Amino acid sequence: MRLSALNDIADGGFAEVEAMIDGDAESLILYRLGDEVRAWLNVCPHAGRRLDWAPGQFLKSKDGHLVCAAHGASFELDRGDCIAGPCRGDALRAVQVQLRDGEVWLA
Ligand code: FES
Repeated sequence: MRLSALNDIADGGFAEVEAMIDGDAESLILYRLGDEVRAWLNVCPHAGRRLDWAPGQFLKSKDGHLVCAAHGASFELDRGDCIAGPCRGDALRAVQVQLRDGEVWLA
């Protein structure tokens, strides 16, 4: 399943897309770093809320961490580990994606 064009995501920025994962419609966070894209379920391990404050609007801290809009948990963007806030030590659930010809696909 195609998720997005790479160029529709700002370098260092995020996008939100919907995808079917294991038969369920899920919201995903896409994070672009140059020619790489990482993806996680848009479900915070703290209280299960979405991390964006409006669809596709994610907070990034000065240190380059993704910050959950609900209660401020911070996630590093390599593995999606929560490094500060109420779910510290937990992690976002990674979703495998692939880049093909400038398009992001579910792997
Ligand atoms: S739901 Fe994300 S910090 Fe509480």
